[in-house]
Amino acid sequence: MPHKPLLATVLGQRQERPPLWIMRQAGRYLPEYRETRKSAGNFLELCYTPDLAVEVTLQPLRRFDLDAAILFSDILVIPDALGQSVRFETGEGPVLEALDEKGIDRLDRSGALSHLEPVLETVRRLRASLPPEKTLIGFCGAPWTVATYMLGGRGSPDQAIARRFALQHPAAFERLIDILVETSVDYLAAQLAAGADVVQIFESWALNLDDAAFARQVLEPNRRIVEGLRHRVPGAPVIGFPRGAAGNLRRFAEDTGINALGVDYATPLEFIRTQLPPDLPVQGNLDPLRLVVGGEAMESQVRAILEAWSDRPHIFNLGHGIVPETPIAHVERLIELVKGR
Ligand code: CP3
Repeated sequence: MPHKPLLATVLGQRQERPPLWIMRQAGRYLPEYRETRKSAGNFLELCYTPDLAVEVTLQPLRRFDLDAAILFSDILVIPDALGQSVRFETGEGPVLEALDEKGIDRLDRSGALSHLEPVLETVRRLRASLPPEKTLIGFCGAPWTVATYMLGGRGSPDQAIARRFALQHPAAFERLIDILVETSVDYLAAQLAAGADVVQIFESWALNLDDAAFARQVLEPNRRIVEGLRHRVPGAPVIGFPRGAAGNLRRFAEDTGINALGVDYATPLEFIRTQLPPDLPVQGNLDPLRLVVGGEAMESQVRAILEAWSDRPHIFNLGHGIVPETPIAHVERLIELVKGR
């Protein structure tokens, strides 16, 4: 086995310098991404065309000394594969045909993996072309996060439509979560079989939930995916990312069975240092806006993060996705800082 510093860190081995990748590292802040995106026409075409998806996955690694590639796709290919209509409108984000109870009953899991075959082909090609020391990260959205888009039809600041649906239609909601858990296990197992080294489960909307809702909508589905996946792929390395989990972070780390915990930028460094097991690998957590502004606003916090988590396994990352207005020179400087140059 070639040494992969990022995979090793997920598995609990602290490295001399933390390995790094950048959440949403392939994207609109890169001119070469915008070029490829234009030639693809629509966004889902880009996700389902292996030649193009491989190209945009590798673009950030050509420019920057990153330790991982993340498969280029989206968390919303799952609703698309289940037969729900999904579109990406420029400047508006994703738009789905919002589901009601009957719509949940019409979702069809039987063709999902064959629909996602082009994404799996992208993983195989990436595996074949990446240098052996680079970690290949596969991913899916966590069921609750994906459900917020499926039920709400689009992103929203408070996920009110999905939160209300979960309370008013508990049986239909559980059917939806079950479908998403089972499809996600199939999909992640297939990504690992195709050559991904580790998978990340994006729970981007782990916020705005009371105790019981957090347990039911976030903890339990993440736990079931990890368990189901390990049943298929013993020892499967998993990064969890419950964005906004705040006071629930520790519960998440303890109850889901993940190997490494992604933390958002609002999580205090000190909380991680003192309240989470010292051997738990942690990933994060620079505010993406510090990367936009650069200079001392960025550098001081990068140093604080490196210092606070220096004695545990740590993967350096942003605390949420890189934004389109990020200057490329700031990304270069960030990597110099983390790599100690
Ligand atoms: O390098 C990478 O990380 C690329 C792969 C990737 C994308 N989306 C590509 C993408 C990954 C890992 C995602 C995850 C994703 N998608 C999440 C979880 C992470 C997070 O940010 O919280 C979520 C919630 C989505 C759903 C989604 N997709 C939204 C809300 C949007 C619109 C907002 C935006 O950033 O544009 C997308 C579109 C999307 N997904 C783009 C990219 C590069 C931009 C679309 C474009 O090029 O026009």
